[in-house]
Amino acid sequence: MKKKKAIKIVEEKLPKKRFEHSLRVAETAVKMAEIFGGDAERVEIAGILHDYAKYDGLSKLYQKVTKYELDNALLAYNSEILHGPVGAAIMKHEFGVDDEEIYLAIYHHTTGRNQMTLSEKIIFVADYIEPGRTQPGVEEIRTIVFEEQKLDKAIYEISKRTVLYLVEQDHVIYPLTIDCLNYYNLEK
Ligand SMILES: [Fe+2]
Ligand SMILES: [Fe+2]
Repeated sequence: MKKKKAIKIVEEKLPKKRFEHSLRVAETAVKMAEIFGGDAERVEIAGILHDYAKYDGLSKLYQKVTKYELDNALLAYNSEILHGPVGAAIMKHEFGVDDEEIYLAIYHHTTGRNQMTLSEKIIFVADYIEPGRTQPGVEEIRTIVFEEQKLDKAIYEISKRTVLYLVEQDHVIYPLTIDCLNYYNLEK
């Protein structure tokens, strides 16, 4: 999919604030691709598209998990997790986006996983640090990315914060998120 088309479908689908977040994730991802040797064009498209399914209702998300034969275990989770895998499947099956790295980057942006491709890593981190983000500790992650230039360390720190938050909220944690935490703890 070309950039222009990606922007068009996301702008039509998402509320303005989320559309603008998507563009900032894409811009951040391009910047990161230059630093870490990634494919700028690919992560730009993945960044624009990553939140496409963010506001689909839970029943619609569930339907697509079944229709596109995604991991059935996903059905125990909420849209915060589901919009990644489902968004990836929508792009693949409904928009003909046939690039595996873009698929994986959209798919795992909500959970992370062990052994991510470079595009997955970039989108996972860019989503967390794009300039519109203001969560506590975000500046520390930006320093790790842009000054220390340690991508795996950034992934570990993001996973750690996410898991701590989820535990604090008594949420069940998707197993890939734990895999991500453990794997990048050893890689960092
Ligand atoms: Fe998202
Ligand atoms: Fe996002």
